[in-house]
Amino acid sequence: MSLPGETLFSEAELQERISALGKQITEHYRDEELTVVGLMNGSLFFMVDLIRHLPYQTQMECWRVSSYQGKESTGSLQGLDAIHGDYSGRHVLIVDDILDTSLTLSKVTEKLLSLNALSVESCVLLSKQRERAVNLTPKWAGFEIEDLFVIGYGLDLDHKYRPLPMIRVLKD
Ligand code: IMP
Ligand code: MG
Repeated sequence: MSLPGETLFSEAELQERISALGKQITEHYRDEELTVVGLMNGSLFFMVDLIRHLPYQTQMECWRVSSYQGKESTGSLQGLDAIHGDYSGRHVLIVDDILDTSLTLSKVTEKLLSLNALSVESCVLLSKQRERAVNLTPKWAGFEIEDLFVIGYGLDLDHKYRPLPMIRVLKD
């Protein structure tokens, strides 16, 4: 049975890094208006904490997409047909919890470009060091981690463990 193991990042470490990311993102977009697209459910905690460090004009949308079942990527992304919002001519920042195979970010980026977004960048809280399906580097990443399955602060295993305030490794 899988259970929460070692803590990788405490609540305080997460918040300190998120505040620094918020400053960098604010500087990058300066006077440009931004739409943040948070990928549900995993990035919910991260997006809510990050957006509070961005300018008050920042707009927010949530897209519910998923590619994972248990501890494995399914290799396809569900949910892109049901998205809403107007992205034409907007600078868009995709916010996700974790970059793994890169399938999610590459498909979501493609979708936003097809909706005529002016620019599309991404910010992930965690980036796993592993081979990617597509060569995609997010403009901002909170922390690089080894190829481990992690939970907490929004990240789940089959919908469990999201409420943990810190990021922990899942141990078998
Ligand atoms: P990718 O599409 O393979 O890059 O995977 C990204 C998505 O898979 C993330 O948005 C997460 O929802 C999920 N995911 C990948 N690795 C983990 C993990 O270690 N813990 C929890 N979810 C994960
Ligand atoms: Mg996800």
